[in-house]
Amino acid sequence: MRERPGSAPAIRIRGSVRPVVVSSANGHRFTNGGTKTCVETAFEQMMQGTDVLDALIAGVNIVELDPLETSVGYGGLPNAEGVVQLDASVMHGPRKRAGAVGSIEGVRTPSLVAKAVMDFTDHHLIVGKDAQTFARNRGFTIEDDLNTERSRRAWLEWKRRSDPVHHLDPSHREAALRAVMMSMVADGLVDENHVYGTINCNGMNAKGEICGVTTTSGLAWKTPGRVGDSPVLGAGLYVDGEVGAAGSTGRGEANLFGLCSMLVVEEMRHGKHPKDAGLEACRRIQHNTIEKRLLNDRGTPNFNVNLYVMNARGEYAGVGLYANANSRFAVCDEKGARLEVIEPLLEGSV
Ligand code: GLY
Repeated sequence: MRERPGSAPAIRIRGSVRPVVVSSANGHRFTNGGTKTCVETAFEQMMQGTDVLDALIAGVNIVELDPLETSVGYGGLPNAEGVVQLDASVMHGPRKRAGAVGSIEGVRTPSLVAKAVMDFTDHHLIVGKDAQTFARNRGFTIEDDLNTERSRRAWLEWKRRSDPVHHLDPSHREAALRAVMMSMVADGLVDENHVYGTINCNGMNAKGEICGVTTTSGLAWKTPGRVGDSPVLGAGLYVDGEVGAAGSTGRGEANLFGLCSMLVVEEMRHGKHPKDAGLEACRRIQHNTIEKRLLNDRGTPNFNVNLYVMNARGEYAGVGLYANANSRFAVCDEKGARLEVIEPLLEGSV
């Protein structure tokens, strides 16, 4: 039977769903001093009957609150002025609702504020100072500074290395800043996965209900007010409750340009496996990356984007432009929690 144009053909599977939670690798690395990681917590709560989105948020809250995780929430690497500004989005498949916050300061768990935007407003995205006011009015604790000693020290070192007095020529500034970032990664001051950071976590319960959440401190040392892909529906996160979910980590600008999470879900809607749908989005990013400053010596992108993808059958994948021996994503299902290998589009590294 032909689909009407504009209708949303679905791979709606209800009989034999395999509950699963899929996230970026930090979803199975950090415990904030507890015993369980994000994916373990989310899967356990989901299987106990907690709403899928609430379970996923309980999972990412562990990562947001962990002072050792410098790409998300409390202790996330700050912007160029030393201020931690956070982005987050949530999507609820069955309810067909969503909420997000951009550039919010002072709240450790932006994912919960994004959920409040979904639950208590008619809007999808609230940003900046007004996002903080919204959170205060909803009863969230507002803190003056979300830096930890670790994130503050890393910022001070970045300031020292990138002193603009030594880079007066704007045409060289970008290359100089990139070199600074790479030197801080090489010196072990910044985890290379935390330059753009982020956690994305998607899950489906035994009833086939699919939700997702993405939360981040965004690009380290970003221009104040810069908002990446994480809080933008279709970019950092997209969920269609009848098809699947996708979310991202990595260079938000590249993902925003192609709205890749939406693209992935649409590719799955038309029958592609999560891996092939994700790689198609990576191909799109590569195709759209033509500026010299964004290309390496081999003419391929000098940054990475990863996508975490699952469909309504419980099939899943983690893909990226590049992967090295350590590139992983997190999964939890009835077999337990583990890290699995990321499938790359391109050989080599950034
Ligand atoms: N993907 C996170 C960011 O670019 O902000």
